[in-house]
Amino acid sequence: MSEYAELKVDGNVYKLPIIEGTEQERGFDISKLREESGLITVDTGYKNTGSTQSSITFLDGEKGILRYRGYPIEQLADKSTFLEVAFLLIYGELPNSQELYAFKARVKKHQLVHEDMKQIMLGFPSKAHPMGVLSSLATALTAFYPESLDPNRSADKVDLTITRLLAKIPTLVAWSYTNARGIRANYPDNSLEYVSNFLKMMFNLPTEDYDVDPIVADAMDKIFILHADHEQNCSTSTVRIVGSSHANLYASVAAGINALWGPLHGGANQKVIEMLQNIITNGGDTKKFIDKAKDPNDPFRLMGFGHRVYKNFDPRAEILKKQADKILERLGVNEPEFEVAKQLEEAALKDEYFIERKLYPNVDFYSGIIMKAIGIPIEMFPVMFSIGRLPGWIAQWKEMRTHNEPIGRPRQIYVGHTQRPYESISNRS
Ligand code: SDX
Repeated sequence: MSEYAELKVDGNVYKLPIIEGTEQERGFDISKLREESGLITVDTGYKNTGSTQSSITFLDGEKGILRYRGYPIEQLADKSTFLEVAFLLIYGELPNSQELYAFKARVKKHQLVHEDMKQIMLGFPSKAHPMGVLSSLATALTAFYPESLDPNRSADKVDLTITRLLAKIPTLVAWSYTNARGIRANYPDNSLEYVSNFLKMMFNLPTEDYDVDPIVADAMDKIFILHADHEQNCSTSTVRIVGSSHANLYASVAAGINALWGPLHGGANQKVIEMLQNIITNGGDTKKFIDKAKDPNDPFRLMGFGHRVYKNFDPRAEILKKQADKILERLGVNEPEFEVAKQLEEAALKDEYFIERKLYPNVDFYSGIIMKAIGIPIEMFPVMFSIGRLPGWIAQWKEMRTHNEPIGRPRQIYVGHTQRPYESISNRS
């Protein structure tokens, strides 16, 4: 196998070292290309550009493989818990029993949120989108922990910020949910496991105790595990590039939340359900919507379909589809959206347009069915994605800072006006 790629330009040959990863992925290093040749590469949307070398998550889009620190997602979803997966992603290894106990205890210790956070929440209109609220509250945490602004503080202080984020984000999400409904906030219950505690803070009422159904808690736990990391996706790349300026972890995570909000990214799960409900309202005519998705003149896309990397099935969608079946049966819930989703998937996977473009259901296609059955409001689906993705964002930010990676600063090819003299306003047409 070649150790170099050779680039021939204007009679010159430039040697670009080839880097090979532990899964035999190969890329050539262009970090010296501009100083040697004056050339840069251009790859709008970074479809073919590696931003880093990472040890956290491996995915193979052709084979539908996803592993966190080498462990297959199918085994983690089946055997692990979200908090254990968070430890794995952030610290690199599965915890032993003492480590897991201590980790859980640290998180429980920090689940409370300063009462002044409620003043900030009260400032939001009840119709504020929960993702805008969440990113604001994540940034607001810097006000309560100003020491976190110091980019050179010790590793144990960074670890305290990591613990605070994992511990407080679910509380902030639950408080913003009850606040938007004018219901008294529920405080964390340290006797409960992480996800059960979150569900209880969300749904407990002053008038009626919310009993956490273990099947519901397990389904939510799996949803968080499946969303926990996904290598250099849009929001994770955002967290890394914001952190590369030595911005603090709260600000970097807030940036990730805002990137995830987009309907092409984490906002898709909300758009999937809205699309399915629209299909139902329109008489369940899936063919009409598939034709719309195929029409190059129609901006409509089949939400929850397609992926930048998976050009085969998204392993997470496979697991979530099975989970949806199980949770709906367990809850005795008949979600018409689930039937339409299955019809849509079946029709699309037989259609040349989708086959040709290798468009398959992605993680967002079935996750919303489960969250809706659990009682999560549709507009909060991207917020659930954020809770799930938080350990991944943290792990990736930590890796980038530990490797002391340089500030992210892509180049460009300028295609605007060449030099021209200033025109006084009297001479302008
Ligand atoms: C997530 O990157 C990650 O890892 C993301 C994620 C994670 O865990 O972090 O997996 C989470 O974001 C999942 C994706 C959720 N988004 C959606 O479901 C929105 C619908 N899907 C898309 O818009 C699209 O598929 C993307 C954004 C996901 C991927 O877009 P790409 O890779 O940039 O592909 P593209 O836009 O260049 O599309 C290629 C072709 C185009 O057709 P042509 O111009 O070649 O004729 O496929 C078509 C697109 O029009 N196409 C679709 C389609 N997705 C792509 N056509 C109809 N419906 C769709 N959903």
